[in-house]
Amino acid sequence: MTQETKGGPPARQVDLCRVCGGSNWQEVVDFGPLPLANSFLEPGTPLDGEARFPLGVLSCRDCRLMTLTHTVDPEVLYRTYFYVTSDSQTISRHMRHVADLCVERFELAPGSFVVEMGSNTGQQLAAFQDSGMRTLGVDPARELAALANERGVETLPDFFSEVTADRIVKEYGHAQLILGRHVFAHIDDISEIATGVRELLEPAGVFAVEVPYALDMLASNEFDTIYHEHLSYFSVSTFAGLFGRHGLRVVDVERATVHGGSIIVFVSRDDAPWQPRPVVAELERLERDSGFFDDATYDEFARRVAHIRETLPPLVRGLVADGKRVAGYGAPAKGSTMVGVCGLGTEDLEFCLDTTDLKQGKLQPGSHIPVRSPEQAALNPPDYYLLFAWNYADEIIRNERAFLEGGGRFIVPVPEPRVVSLADLDG
Ligand code: TYD
Ligand code: ZN
Repeated sequence: MTQETKGGPPARQVDLCRVCGGSNWQEVVDFGPLPLANSFLEPGTPLDGEARFPLGVLSCRDCRLMTLTHTVDPEVLYRTYFYVTSDSQTISRHMRHVADLCVERFELAPGSFVVEMGSNTGQQLAAFQDSGMRTLGVDPARELAALANERGVETLPDFFSEVTADRIVKEYGHAQLILGRHVFAHIDDISEIATGVRELLEPAGVFAVEVPYALDMLASNEFDTIYHEHLSYFSVSTFAGLFGRHGLRVVDVERATVHGGSIIVFVSRDDAPWQPRPVVAELERLERDSGFFDDATYDEFARRVAHIRETLPPLVRGLVADGKRVAGYGAPAKGSTMVGVCGLGTEDLEFCLDTTDLKQGKLQPGSHIPVRSPEQAALNPPDYYLLFAWNYADEIIRNERAFLEGGGRFIVPVPEPRVVSLADLDG
């Protein structure tokens, strides 16, 4: 099996399922060795100058966890991480919603203690502070933790673990709410996290874990959400089994539209007063009825992904051959998978526009397509934008009305490639 190239640290091949310990794997997709999706490069980096790690997905036939075939050392992935939570309207609104939802549904009194793992720059916890809660963040990315501390959201620059949980209990007390938003999928040893969560929760406390919903990913062909940071792709059924083994239980689930379809799963100790709401069983039934436990579902997903891989590059190249200029909209991690899997490069896309300062002036991993600021892009806009940040399609298309009115078009890559012009919106 390929290890990484260029002398980087090894990627470990997954052996036993991190949820159930099983090893009856179904192969879903194999994208070959690709660079890390958020490792944006300095200009001038040679094309063969990046470490590549195998990227593929398996499904566990016993619990239907989907997992990457290989895990890259988290010290490599996260210590110098510069993924900054988007300050888009969509996300700010969602964070406000998450805070209100938790406070109302689980009757959090003012002054309750809220701990967030993977708290990034503290934006979500700031929303809880606005609701009168006492907060503590935990995030291993040192620069991000420092930014959070500067804005007044106290943050420990650590990975969340049993040791961290223990330390928090001793120094700050037990938590009424623990949050893990879009971080659980990034963690290899989730049993340790579950143990740490159980220790840190006060008896009636709640753990709210938000992840992309595997059912939505499969249904909408969101294969570009597969990258080395996303080790696991979860369903409600898989979570129920996982937490059940740790003295915890799923008591509520809320579906959200962010990141292509996500679930917020609320988990309590199994001796806590919260009774599971009907929606938990309803979603488990939906998963069963929609084929989540059948090999055929995964084979069909792989076929649809292959189809996108076969149709998107000719669509872009056909436009370029007709003299059209095409660029990428957004430089999300998803975009790195999209170009890597589809084999798109600088001859296809002139640049990617992105609002993130830290990405501007750098090159997209793998393709080496340069990242430009929106201001720079506006000086000479292309004819078509390939919408890498499709999870913000509504917001972006609303904001880019002028581009569309000037005859510009978007190529939306999933669920299948399609071109959107002003006429499509107004018609
Ligand atoms: P995000 O969806 O958080 O993606 P991922 O988890 O796949 O990295 O990233 C969205 C990217 O798109 C981020 O780099 C910011 C950028 N972006 C824009 O450039 N313009 C916009 O209007 C929006 C909403 C996002
Ligand atoms: Zn399993």
